[in-house]
Amino acid sequence: MQTVNSSVYARRRATLARQIGPGGIAIVPTAPERCRNRDSDFLYRHDSYFYYLCGFTEPHATLVITGDGHGTLFCQPKDREREIWDGLRLGPEAAPAQLGVEAAFSATELDAQLLAMLDGRETVWYPFATHTGLETRVDGWLNKLRERVRYGTLCPQQQRDLCGVLDELRLVKDAHEQAIMRRAGQISAGGHIRAMQLSARMLRAGQDVREYHLDAELLHEFRRHGSQAPAYGSIVAAGANACVLHYRADAGRVNDGDLVLIDAACELDGYASDITRTFPANGCFTGPQRTLYDIVLASQEAAVAATKAGARFTAPHDAAVKVLAQGMLDIGLLDKNKVGSLDDVIEQRAYFAFYMHRTGHWIGMDVHDCGAYTEPSEIGQVSTRKDALTGETIKDRPARILRPGMALTIEPGIYVRPAPGVPEHFHNIGIRIEDDAIVTASGCELITRDVPVVVAEIEALMRERA
Ligand code: GLY
Ligand code: MN
Ligand code: MN
Repeated sequence: MQTVNSSVYARRRATLARQIGPGGIAIVPTAPERCRNRDSDFLYRHDSYFYYLCGFTEPHATLVITGDGHGTLFCQPKDREREIWDGLRLGPEAAPAQLGVEAAFSATELDAQLLAMLDGRETVWYPFATHTGLETRVDGWLNKLRERVRYGTLCPQQQRDLCGVLDELRLVKDAHEQAIMRRAGQISAGGHIRAMQLSARMLRAGQDVREYHLDAELLHEFRRHGSQAPAYGSIVAAGANACVLHYRADAGRVNDGDLVLIDAACELDGYASDITRTFPANGCFTGPQRTLYDIVLASQEAAVAATKAGARFTAPHDAAVKVLAQGMLDIGLLDKNKVGSLDDVIEQRAYFAFYMHRTGHWIGMDVHDCGAYTEPSEIGQVSTRKDALTGETIKDRPARILRPGMALTIEPGIYVRPAPGVPEHFHNIGIRIEDDAIVTASGCELITRDVPVVVAEIEALMRERA
């Protein structure tokens, strides 16, 4: 049975209660179990909003929080027969002591209890567009209340989306969250180190190395340190596969002389990490690989330097693009005679041929975590522009201003698919370097740097442990 630091969740429920006000009531279901095939389910993963508010990981549960801060959990009742098959259940009797909620009932009582809880509230809050059928269920509860108005019930007049409120709370990570994320970063880094070392060791031994060998190494390291699962589908891409942005670890051969791009990290106690490293399969970068690698690394350094409280979310991306674009011009990936100056390359987005994604995203409970990317206080300041590549009209709003405790990834890359005019020695090289950062007052803390990024350090690591 899980141990829960209940004061952490009680504090969050109290904060949420203040936000929804005394007339509010919030309904937060956890995630459903999902069928994988026939009668086998996917590994169960709770809903992040629900978990944020109570730390409970069993399925078939709903949390209700009222504006006075009172938390009521509806959860699976104890059931001897089901527990033999599916494992122990906490049960409503033990839930208040274990989780710190004020009350708990069997999930079978949700409909009846909720009617009483909704009666007399002004506003019902729940996550919109995240749980199939929830809107209809809320309508059903409200309709039942309306049917009884002649007997004196008062039906809430408003329904509001809880996601916006919870997204803002989740965006700034508290000390408890930061500690878990640091540990997740350490474990994931260990997985990358093992994969790098295995690749070189197997090639030195003349063995047939496949992407799945490296994937297995990552998984082993994640699980042996208590991670529940990878935080997302692991990308282990050898050679040209690295140019496929969402490639999944498969059976591709890892050849001597290839680069391997691994974008994989663990989830630990509900928190994701997200690391990418690109390394030479045999432990030694070739000249062209190193040239591109050092440009990506320099762009990541520029992005890291731009990540600090008070800066905009877009500052790291802009800093990375500048370095990448200059590098592309310097090494002839982009032809100055065709694309013009650095400013032209940025203005016209000519770099997009080799760098087609953004430099980061929020990270937290979800690998692409919640939280607005625009600054809430400046939401009305809209400007429009024409996109240089697509001609589309884009609405720009001022980007989010970074605050201490926000967590984001910093992940520039270069991907070179063979094309006319592109120097052949760069063909099929794909490089990304990704670390997770927590914003601090003066800069940011990189929490995934237990695996090296500098060429000499990667090469040294891969020489060790022959
Ligand atoms: N691994 C997913 C991402 O980097 O965004
Ligand atoms: Mn990422
Ligand atoms: Mn990633």
